[in-house]
Amino acid sequence: MKQYLKHHEWEIIEEGFDPHFNRISESIFSLGNGRMGQRANFEEHYSGDTHQGTYVAGVYYPDKTRVGWWKNGYPEYFAKVLNAPSWIGIDIKIDQQQFDLAKCTVTDFVRTLDMKRGTLHRSFTATLGDGKKVKISAHRFCSMADGEVGAIRYAITPINFSSAASIRLSIDADVVNKDSNYDEKFWDEVYKESQLGYAVVTAKTKKTDFHVCTSIEYDLEEAGKRVKGKVFTNIKSKYVDNVVGVDLKEGVELVVYKYAVVMSSENHPKDTLVKVCHKKLDEVAKMGFDQLLKAHESVWKEIWEKCDITIEGDIAAQQGIRFNIFQLMQTYTGADERLNIGPKGFTGEKYGGSTYWDTEAYCLPFYLGTSDPQVARNLLVYRHKHLQRAIENAAKLGFTDGAALYPMVTMNGEECHNEWEITFEEIHRNGAIAFAIYDYIRYTGDEKYLTEFGLEVLIGISRFWSQRITFSEAKKQYVMLGVTGPNEYENNVNNNWYTSYIACWTMEYTQKALDFVRKDNHIKFSSLIANLNFNEFQETSRWAEIRGNMYLGEDKQLGIFLQQDGFLDKEIIPVRNLRPQDRPLNQKWSWDRILRSCYIKQADVLQGLYLFDDRFDIETIKRNFDFYEPLTVHESSLSPCVHVILASKLGYKEKAYEMYLRTSRLDLDDYNNDTEDGCHITSMAGTWMSVVKGFGGMRVKEGVLHFSPYIPDHWESYSFRIDFRGRVIKVRALKEKTELVLESGEPIEIMLNGKMVKL
Ligand code: BGC
Repeated sequence: MKQYLKHHEWEIIEEGFDPHFNRISESIFSLGNGRMGQRANFEEHYSGDTHQGTYVAGVYYPDKTRVGWWKNGYPEYFAKVLNAPSWIGIDIKIDQQQFDLAKCTVTDFVRTLDMKRGTLHRSFTATLGDGKKVKISAHRFCSMADGEVGAIRYAITPINFSSAASIRLSIDADVVNKDSNYDEKFWDEVYKESQLGYAVVTAKTKKTDFHVCTSIEYDLEEAGKRVKGKVFTNIKSKYVDNVVGVDLKEGVELVVYKYAVVMSSENHPKDTLVKVCHKKLDEVAKMGFDQLLKAHESVWKEIWEKCDITIEGDIAAQQGIRFNIFQLMQTYTGADERLNIGPKGFTGEKYGGSTYWDTEAYCLPFYLGTSDPQVARNLLVYRHKHLQRAIENAAKLGFTDGAALYPMVTMNGEECHNEWEITFEEIHRNGAIAFAIYDYIRYTGDEKYLTEFGLEVLIGISRFWSQRITFSEAKKQYVMLGVTGPNEYENNVNNNWYTSYIACWTMEYTQKALDFVRKDNHIKFSSLIANLNFNEFQETSRWAEIRGNMYLGEDKQLGIFLQQDGFLDKEIIPVRNLRPQDRPLNQKWSWDRILRSCYIKQADVLQGLYLFDDRFDIETIKRNFDFYEPLTVHESSLSPCVHVILASKLGYKEKAYEMYLRTSRLDLDDYNNDTEDGCHITSMAGTWMSVVKGFGGMRVKEGVLHFSPYIPDHWESYSFRIDFRGRVIKVRALKEKTELVLESGEPIEIMLNGKMVKL
């Protein structure tokens, strides 16, 4: 855990430059706009430790799989989020000396992420080797008003000298992915050009042939007047720039404005890219920095009006929740249904792919609560579009007759994860995809979704479960062997309670969906059944047989569900007895030691009790929580939020608050010692759930919205808004009361602390 960032309600502030934290800050201060994103790398050359990252949504590379020991069934490639051509470079030479923060004395360094406005600022004074002092103030954003636009204002003030300087404004397409399996470069050059005041590079990805066109223009100003220095243009392999020679004058600020347009062939025909990119760039440069910024800020204003969560009385908690909402909203705006929410968003390369079960299990509720229902629907339709691929994935593993196994990690529907214990065994992901359909309908009331898309997906998933589950003669019950539950610190276990439970639930829900669609649209129903070659009687009878006789491990004496067979054979030693130097286990212990231990990476049985909390009595939830929580190390970011929600339900206020801080400040305080790889974007939706479903007790039961708010001890109040069936409802919880305001939409009845109230 590190605590070097200042607490502030709306800003993330780093004061003083410590190169050891640079990679962490590069992740935390990242910017994005749903279409493109940028780690908080410096504009100027930096020879110190850095992880350069520029990303363009939907653009990936299928990196050939690299494993020590090949196993049949492994995918051929791992689809990687690609580090794309960089548009931010503003490199400076003062009196022939390269300006480089690693090589000068840096004072008054402040890096600020302004979450209200969506901008990144950096200011400092640098003293060069020869004593020249220069003040820099850099300000940039990726426009939320136009996802293809980025802009930088970079101000240089010589403090104690006047001298000649050169400013290099570049596009660098010679970029690499740190996680490249074979040290390959993934981009080829298609086109480049550098003229006075303008430069462009189009690069294409090898194999996938995505074209990305990046173009820049710039302006230089001194005291509000345009400066025209002497310009040289350079072209190298995968690189272009303009170098402007200027005279820096003591005490006079020189401002560089750099505008960039980044377009991909996902959104424009390849042969027009350079032309349309140039056209837009001209418009952007004409608008200028201030106007672009205004448009960008007004989008953020709208977002915050809708999605902000306020917390009074606890700045760390307030900063935490805003940081989570901010990162989520700049990762996925819902504007493009082809996109999804990668675990690292635009903040790092780790995890490749864009889509994990995280989307359905964690992000969907966030978008349901904060955005137009279409956004959540798009996320479901995305999986519907991948159904055929999921059927092919299952077929590669020997499943037949339309059984669908959704991938653990994907870009295009194809599995690209290649660790056998995850690819083949972490199949609970299928359950989350089925549950998301139910969750969406429960929240929106859009039952027709089942007829249109949902049923088909549910049948594919239920078919998979019915083939994956086998009959044990010894137990005379159905069992599920060789799985990895959400707790990845156990592999190849038998009868993981969570996976078996959600499998049975899926088959039950699919039966209900069949009954609904049959009534809703008989013609559609018949053609679906025929197309899927669905033998309704035979298949649903087997589902019912399995559900009625499934082995779900339990320890009657302890009154708990067994995470998997044999869990109680482990030495049960609570996490609090671990030595601090052993944490995080995944960085300190050998893998076998982790596997044999009782430590749980992330909510597993508790994940099930969270999803299905209305099917279990409070005592059962309590016994399981009391047993499993002390064994959980939360080394997956997805874990603490589930604990907040359950702890809140159980009235464990302190535990809920502790877990809330952990989820909301996971990256800000680098709890898991891995923020340098990127932020944990998908779990940020869990932070939102912690407030709304945890502290706020929000649930939807039979179409009725329920709240049972309580307030962590040292908070004065908190408030959030949710978008529910055409209404916007504001909930403000204070110590002594809860205020509910219907801000828009038709009157509605709501259950507040068990009593129906009309808004
Ligand atoms: C977690 C998975 C999760 C993945 C991506 C892993 O560490 O164990 O549950 O899907 O990260 O967030």
